Amino acid sequence: MTDNANLIDPGGRVVMISGASRGIGEAIAKKLLADGYRASLGVRDVAATAERFSQFAGDKLLIDAFDAAQPDTAQSWLENTLQTFGKLHGLVNNAGIWRQVNFETGDEDDLDALWEVNVKAPFRLTRCALPHLRACGTGRIVNIASTDGVRFRDSTCSVGYTMSKHALMAMSHAARQFGYDDGVRVTALCPGAVATELVAGVPGVTPAAGQLAPETIAHIVATLMALPNNASVAWMPVNTRLESTI
Ligand SMILES: NC(=O)c1ccc[n+]([C@@H]2O[C@H](COP(=O)([O-])OP(=O)(O)OC[C@H]3O[C@@H](n4cnc5c(N)ncnc54)[C@H](OP(=O)(O)O)[C@@H]3O)[C@@H](O)[C@H]2O)c1
Repeated sequence: MTDNANLIDPGGRVVMISGASRGIGEAIAKKLLADGYRASLGVRDVAATAERFSQFAGDKLLIDAFDAAQPDTAQSWLENTLQTFGKLHGLVNNAGIWRQVNFETGDEDDLDALWEVNVKAPFRLTRCALPHLRACGTGRIVNIASTDGVRFRDSTCSVGYTMSKHALMAMSHAARQFGYDDGVRVTALCPGAVATELVAGVPGVTPAAGQLAPETIAHIVATLMALPNNASVAWMPVNTRLESTI
């Protein structure tokens, strides 16, 4: 990178990352910490996550309880983040689940779980974080959506998951509108298959050899976090294979 890229210096900036216990979220958190951010990880199992981040233990890392199924934990995680670091510059809505719900299989409990974790929880966190992101003048939100957020690939896909990720896309556009004048930039990042537990057994996905590494997604998130206010990226597909429209 050259100096005239006008990238934002990570030093001192504070980013909240949901679902950082494993998979893509873990990779994002480790990349941001390595780049010099202070990271607040919202996870269901604080002790297990602390073990996975033992090399980062210190005053740049907070690991706090966050469970999409417990609405109050969004606010308590935000408050603990502010109490620890005093400010907030970024939010990565990463925690997510996949369930097979189509017109023949899956039930409404699965549909409700998808809505709860993939849509309502990011909505809640965005609502809590937005005033603080606005206050800093260069707030950033990255929502980990999916290629399933921008098209319906074929009938092997989960209709429910696809619906939830389309809803997350809509919320991303809305958050961008609400925060834009105060310098908040929001990106819906839309990867194809990433090599994590989430895609194990999911039909029709890119075979393992062609899947994205979580670290590749982390690298992209780090770039999005550091872009200046005049480089707004509303959404970004990351394809593992050729498709007709993305
Ligand atoms: N893998 C892919 O191919 C792919 C592609 C496009 C988009 N994505 C999206 O990327 C995000 C991360 O997925 P991943 O592949 O890293 O999946 P993963 O390895 O299964 O990790 C999912 C993460 O979400 C957390 N989580 C699940 N339910 C939660 C809840 N109720 N409350 C709080 N956290 C919860 C998990 O925490 P626990 O450890 O406590 O379960 C874990 O940290 C998801 O939003 C997913 O939809 C994934």
